[in-house]
Amino acid sequence: MCVHVHIPVLANEILAYLKPQMGNVIIDSTLGLGGHTKLMLEHGAKVYGLDTDARNLEEAKELLKDYSKKNQIEFIHTNFSEIEDIAQKIVKKEGHIDGILFDLGISSVHVDDSTRGFSFLKDGPLDMRLNPIDELTAATIVNTYSVEDLSQLIYTLGEDHFARRIAYNIDEYRKHIQFTSTLELADFIAGVVHSRNAYYAKRTLVKDQLPGSFIWPEHDRKQMHEWGLRQRRHPATRTFQALRMAVNKELEVLEKGLRGALASVSSKGKIAVISFHSLEDGIVKRIFKEAVLTKQYTLLEKKPISPTNEELKNNPRARSAKLRVIERK
Ligand SMILES: C[S@@+](CC[C@H](N)C(=O)[O-])C[C@H]1O[C@@H](n2cnc3c(N)ncnc32)[C@H](O)[C@@H]1O
Repeated sequence: MCVHVHIPVLANEILAYLKPQMGNVIIDSTLGLGGHTKLMLEHGAKVYGLDTDARNLEEAKELLKDYSKKNQIEFIHTNFSEIEDIAQKIVKKEGHIDGILFDLGISSVHVDDSTRGFSFLKDGPLDMRLNPIDELTAATIVNTYSVEDLSQLIYTLGEDHFARRIAYNIDEYRKHIQFTSTLELADFIAGVVHSRNAYYAKRTLVKDQLPGSFIWPEHDRKQMHEWGLRQRRHPATRTFQALRMAVNKELEVLEKGLRGALASVSSKGKIAVISFHSLEDGIVKRIFKEAVLTKQYTLLEKKPISPTNEELKNNPRARSAKLRVIERK
């Protein structure tokens, strides 16, 4: 198995707040490649590592096998939306939960593996499911959602000002050709943004010799592909982010996961959440604020914590990371 390397984001801050040590029980609800977990294991804590992606879980098992031999870690294939049920079982066995970590989003493995369909730089199926047994794929959204729903989704989850134009053009294109691949969609969005014209698909698609069949001319697609790559941020970035968040219901599961974590953490236990998107951070902020109002929890910092310049030099991926931490009284 190919073993990837992952630099955990805000690692020093996570250690400083969660203070993992011998006798502590911690749930890492987004185990990924176990970067944060490994640090907590090194400090002596027992960790329950959750991931909805079975493939990442397998890779983490390999990376952390020395700790599983010592029974210091257990791996659970699940969505963190189910954390409350899982935590109940952990409390029955261990008696307490001292820390819960969420490091949201996808891992570099997802982006690197083109067969998962997360990348607009490599060709792959338009999929984007973190858990391949889920039904909804990005292709289903792109090919079947109404123009209004698609536009709304790209605007709210992708915060893309071209949302309406992209959705309208997708709709024109899919009347003739269904989107199946990531590069096809990414190049097409580049064309829509580049043309500065609402009717890109209508102007571009040409009728082929076969009755009723349309094609997107290869030379135009090639030009748009190259133009997209030359932009500082690829024009499809925001649409891809929106599709990924919709496919995996990321905001809904985050809300359920946070409520489950608040209900499960023991007295003096902490919940730390690293988010990379303003909508995610908004949910964390709101739910933590509600929790504080119950007088059972304390926010450890009023403002979210960001990576230091030092960290950003070594790991630009941490750029948009924000950490919030809450403690149960
Ligand atoms: C950013 S990576 C975590 C990286 C990890 N902290 C590390 O240091 O290696 C996020 C991981 O969480 C998983 N994930 C995302 N959403 C999830 C969810 N709702 N439930 C469980 N796992 C999830 C992804 O599959 C991915 O492996």
